[in-house]
Amino acid sequence: MSEANGTQPATSDALENLLQENRKFAPSEEFAANAVVKPGIYEEADADHEAFWAKQARELLSWNEDFTQTLDWSDAPFAKWFVGGTLNAAYNALDRHVENGLGDRVAIYFEGEPGDSRSYTYAQLTEEVKKAANAFESLGLAKGDRVAVYLPMIPEAVITMLACARIGAIHSVVFGGFSADALRSRIDDAEAKLVVTSDGTYRRGKPSPLKPAVDAALEAKGHSVSSVVVVKRNGEPVDWHEGRDRWWHEVVESASADHTPVPHDAEHPLFILYTSGTTGKPKGILHTTGGFLAQSAFTHKATFDLHAETDVYWCTADIGWVTGHTYVTYAPLINGATQLMYEGTPDTPHQGRWWELVEKYKVSIMYTAPTAIRTMMKWGEDIPAKFDLSSIRVLGSVGEPINPEAWMWYRRVIGGDKAPIVDTWWQTETGAHMIAPMPGITETKPGSAQTPVPGIAVDVVDEMGQSVPNGHGGYLVIRKPWPAMLRGIWGDPERYKETYWSRFDNMYFAGDGAKKDDDGDFWLLGRVDDVMNVSGHRLSTTEIESALVSHPSVAEAAVVGASDETTGEAVVAFVILRGNAVEDPEIVTTLRNHVGKEIGPIAKPRQILVVPELPKTRSGKIMRRLLKDIAEGREAGDSSTLADNTVMQQITSSLKG
Ligand code: WT7
Repeated sequence: MSEANGTQPATSDALENLLQENRKFAPSEEFAANAVVKPGIYEEADADHEAFWAKQARELLSWNEDFTQTLDWSDAPFAKWFVGGTLNAAYNALDRHVENGLGDRVAIYFEGEPGDSRSYTYAQLTEEVKKAANAFESLGLAKGDRVAVYLPMIPEAVITMLACARIGAIHSVVFGGFSADALRSRIDDAEAKLVVTSDGTYRRGKPSPLKPAVDAALEAKGHSVSSVVVVKRNGEPVDWHEGRDRWWHEVVESASADHTPVPHDAEHPLFILYTSGTTGKPKGILHTTGGFLAQSAFTHKATFDLHAETDVYWCTADIGWVTGHTYVTYAPLINGATQLMYEGTPDTPHQGRWWELVEKYKVSIMYTAPTAIRTMMKWGEDIPAKFDLSSIRVLGSVGEPINPEAWMWYRRVIGGDKAPIVDTWWQTETGAHMIAPMPGITETKPGSAQTPVPGIAVDVVDEMGQSVPNGHGGYLVIRKPWPAMLRGIWGDPERYKETYWSRFDNMYFAGDGAKKDDDGDFWLLGRVDDVMNVSGHRLSTTEIESALVSHPSVAEAAVVGASDETTGEAVVAFVILRGNAVEDPEIVTTLRNHVGKEIGPIAKPRQILVVPELPKTRSGKIMRRLLKDIAEGREAGDSSTLADNTVMQQITSSLKG
């Protein structure tokens, strides 16, 4: 690993603290006895991992044409799973449940931020998706076309995604917190034909707009979009482009509710989802149908011990991230589960809103992120104590390493000291859970994601790609192809090979550092590349640096992720200003807003520090490690490899001054 990169795996103090964590929590006898997966599953999967996944694919999905080959890896690293099989994702998520007599089961309970609520049974949701599919087709959308989805957490987001899948159109959901510029670059990269958005949503008790960002994104000519469908959500006035814009309630509500799903090839693209990499340009991660759905459905059932007839499941993730794709739109519906969807912020109108919802809907499986848990810890445990949380049976965590204190609080305060915690490690690229305890089997340890999912080959290797022994750390890799793996980067096969498959031979390089403890359990240690994790959201240092230097006042910029008690990491930027900008007292605010405009509010730096120089190696690489020391309030470490070793001195004295 180069000097210029961030964390060295396996050497951090945090790790040493973590490894002194030796509490263990076995599942209760009752839980184990009723669990969906039984202990023999690991042996079964290890004996023949392809046969294991073939069995899951056949049991959990309905195929129009059965597959003839489980895995074709002859063109590695480009995988084909379930070769020759055909199926329809929307049929699997909806119609078949209705055909099987589950039409009256609630698929989605929706709760809006202002307190409005509605629910959809499987029969109703199927009808809505059929109408949306007909409406989109009437706008000229066909199999293989791309659709940009820029929507809040409302049922229409799920309906849109499934309507696309039904037709074979490829959705590209763009998180509503991204700016017009970010939306445009994603529309351009995928050459989207249709955009689905809403007038807006509600955020902290106030209407918050979305449509204006779509208008701004499409202002400059030369784009591929022919129609924009707009859901009326908050009723705020919007600009209207005749001929391009259409109201959802006009085109979808008037469409026919008859729509026959056509089977698609197992490898037909299901969606593209952009995520940050180590360069400035986001990568369009491509997922296909059969493998993605099989692993999504299996993990949702196994990791959360889903009993679809009785559980009420709630994943708090936004549809704009992969968690919302896999564990809101696809897996729960494929599995016939009942889920809650909540539009707003956790503290509106009060800090007990989430727990009020758990009580109201009798949520039994909850899936959220460590940053949310830490925020709730700060608000105090007397808030959840006011609500009846006794329905909770399983608690999931995702997005970043969960510190043992947060883990213990989650278990004790939310889980009544009995609900197993499942910490799930995975990525946009992996499509579904890769490391996670099985709640009826695994003795869980606070802070560890623990065990590879059955049928998944995870390892930790050293610089040379050698597997490390227990008790040692290194780089997290995946040794065998897995069904939900990305099939590439949209339009850029070389970048796919280069990013994930060039670091080690025949292994997928995840970009995370990890350690195996003495039992061989996995502990995740954060990214080893230039990717930051802020509140479980993935941001690229390079992308924010590019945004900063695109402002006329900035000569150079370096961004680091500094550890932050609540958000895990926080963005801290160091900038060198151009001569004429130095005296501007508003410069920090201006630059924060500029980053907000270029990328989105989530990327705004917590701090921007104006410095006279940046620390660079002789080859010109910025030594972010030293900047991270400063951002985290430490004495800067060894700077002997700097081209000019007075630079750190200059920086610290300028910050003091
Ligand atoms: C990166 C992937 C997976 C859905 C949400 C994020 C980090 C994710 C964990 C976990 C430690 C985790 C990794 C990974 N990460 N889950 N349970 N423990 N780290 O998806 O935006 O693609 O980010 O999130 O660093 O590489 P993503």
